[in-house]
Amino acid sequence: MKEQGRFSKTFLWGAATAAYQVEGAPLADGAGASIWQRFAHTPGRTAHGDTGDTACDHYNRWREDIAIMRELGLNAYRFSISWSRIFPEGKGRINEKGLDHYERLIDALLAAGIEPLVTLYHWDLPAALDDLGGWLNRDIAGWFADYGAALFKRYDGRVKKWTTINEPWVVADGGYLHGALAPGHSNLYEAPIASHNLLRAHGETVKAYRAEGRNEIGLVVNLEPKYPHSKDHADLAATARADAYMNRQYLDPIFFGEYPEEMHEIFGNAWPDWPASDFDLIRQKIDFLGINYYTRGVTRHEPNAWPVQAASARQPGATYTETGWEMYPQGFVDTLLWVTDRYGRQPIFVTENGAAFFDPPKAIDGRVPDPLRIHYLNEHIKAVREAINQGADVRGYMAWSLLDNLEWSLGYSKRFGVVHVDFDTLTRTPKDSARYFAKIIETNGAALDEPLFEVLEGYGETLS
Ligand code: BGC
Repeated sequence: MKEQGRFSKTFLWGAATAAYQVEGAPLADGAGASIWQRFAHTPGRTAHGDTGDTACDHYNRWREDIAIMRELGLNAYRFSISWSRIFPEGKGRINEKGLDHYERLIDALLAAGIEPLVTLYHWDLPAALDDLGGWLNRDIAGWFADYGAALFKRYDGRVKKWTTINEPWVVADGGYLHGALAPGHSNLYEAPIASHNLLRAHGETVKAYRAEGRNEIGLVVNLEPKYPHSKDHADLAATARADAYMNRQYLDPIFFGEYPEEMHEIFGNAWPDWPASDFDLIRQKIDFLGINYYTRGVTRHEPNAWPVQAASARQPGATYTETGWEMYPQGFVDTLLWVTDRYGRQPIFVTENGAAFFDPPKAIDGRVPDPLRIHYLNEHIKAVREAINQGADVRGYMAWSLLDNLEWSLGYSKRFGVVHVDFDTLTRTPKDSARYFAKIIETNGAALDEPLFEVLEGYGETLS
């Protein structure tokens, strides 16, 4: 294979987690409940009734986890702060113990030479705010900005890269349209309102950051390129709708100050006319974009698919992950170049990329062989390199996830970590993919060009 060069010396190599998925102890030290605490404790909402009560116990074991990050050579760690640990009622009274907790984490990361990338919102809305309508209440833009301001005041400078919201599309689609995620609503009329308030809250918080902060702020979107299943007019139109819904719904307002025209067609009369002044708020300049990439969609027209009328067609011969997502690294190249082309060349951090494959519940002799994940990382990090070679300004790559964790409503049944977690003992074991990732980091990408069979054979030999 052709050697395509190394990544820049300042490239960030990290892994990501989210508070409710890894922390456990959701009510410790005066924290308020979040909507995920409520949702997971509602019978029937998560697989096997799994909750984040213990999760990976990262709330208590973060020192051990930082030691693992060091061992792997990571120079960045993306994590989220739990809003209701800081504001137990969502607004008003600050819980100092919550601020202290994340301060210790941030300082320890810095002492270990690991740059913290902090996400303000990774889906765990304070339950007290949900009682006031949550993302459906226009006031949430101010509540979120106040929460952000408290964090900026305390940590900015030590934290140099902030993101407001993780994947607004998933929050609105999973939480308000299809109901698979907290708060579990399924309502055509609510989803556009939630989306719009997520964007307003993002804008208001970027404004607050300009007053309080001196470094960089952006947001994180999950992008999934849509390719038509056929050249049929109906399939092409369905592809455009699916693309607008998932990829342009948030980025167009942020960069262009307007929604894609397909939104009306998708939501019909459930799509409101928004006040023009909202777009001045939404269209704040951001310093970088965080992109989460997992898969692509091959789209065909499906009249019964509600409400986008588009469905994904399975591809013969393709590899699918345990979550049923096609492994398609070329889509990653296409996505990074599409963003660069459509919204202008700007700093990008890959804030999540990874895969759930079947890994055993227990490590065997201290080892977890995960060749499929090694293959996935190899192909996708090469895709990032390819996109950089073709002009995208990608400055960092965070694997999803550092640890096996609570995969939301799928519970602990899907393992995304490069580090295995035994959920009986909470023992951490770096998987072979973590060792491989460490090698990529150590060689700044050069290891990507080693033939994979030699890599895998190498791990095999360490056994004998
Ligand atoms: C989310 C993560 C999630 C991952 C895998 C992303 O949508 O940000 O929290 O675990 O995908 O589903």
